[in-house]
Amino acid sequence: MEFNEVINKRRTSREWSDQEVDFETIKRILAAGMKAPTWDHYRNWQFIVLHTKEEKEKAFAYAKYIADKFDTGRYENRKLNLAQEMYAYAMPRQYTMLVNCPYVIVPLFKCSRLNGEWVSKLNPLTSAWCVAENMMLAVINEGLGYSLRIPLNKEHDIVLEKLGVPKGWMTPCFIGVGHPKEEERILEQYDSSPEGHIHMGGWRRK
Ligand SMILES: Cc1cc2nc3c(=O)[nH]c(=O)nc-3n(C[C@H](O)[C@H](O)[C@H](O)COP(=O)(O)O)c2cc1C
Repeated sequence: MEFNEVINKRRTSREWSDQEVDFETIKRILAAGMKAPTWDHYRNWQFIVLHTKEEKEKAFAYAKYIADKFDTGRYENRKLNLAQEMYAYAMPRQYTMLVNCPYVIVPLFKCSRLNGEWVSKLNPLTSAWCVAENMMLAVINEGLGYSLRIPLNKEHDIVLEKLGVPKGWMTPCFIGVGHPKEEERILEQYDSSPEGHIHMGGWRRK
């Protein structure tokens, strides 16, 4: 696929067809992740790949708890902005968007404790996000779709413990990979044009 086509086609998917994904495709996606820029040159990232339904159900039980307790009624019969519409659509799907696709990738980076005092202190996490973004774009390039969940607070440790990850490793996110359902609703987005976001030479008040 041409680069701009990948950029323009990228979106987050949350519903899947039953079609399988070839493991060779997953390996190409992981290879794209490994090509990401890195803060320390080592590229010491690891990837847990979940494929069976049992593995995914076990790993993401906490996401099920969150999706199940989400009160959809809270958003009914009121005017929502686009961000609220997205939230109301995405929240009930936080578990199914992971367990119903063929593969979930859990990228891991070495870090015992996050330190957000300065942006540079977050370089291990930031590099892991570069890995994640490379993989998301590679997924689109393969003609597939991805779902993305960031573990909510303690969900991070719960999932990594279930996956047997040793202490000293963290994940930025869980990435589901599959064939998006053709009829999936595509929600309207805010304008992504850079017009109105550019400040030539320094910050300018509008
Ligand atoms: C840092 C980050 C965290 C996100 N967390 C979640 C998440 O936990 N669950 C989810 O369904 N989508 C999540 N998303 C996806 C956003 O909802 C999505 O990117 C946004 O609504 C724009 O839609 P698009 O990706 O289809 O362009 C996340 C995206 C980013 C960049």
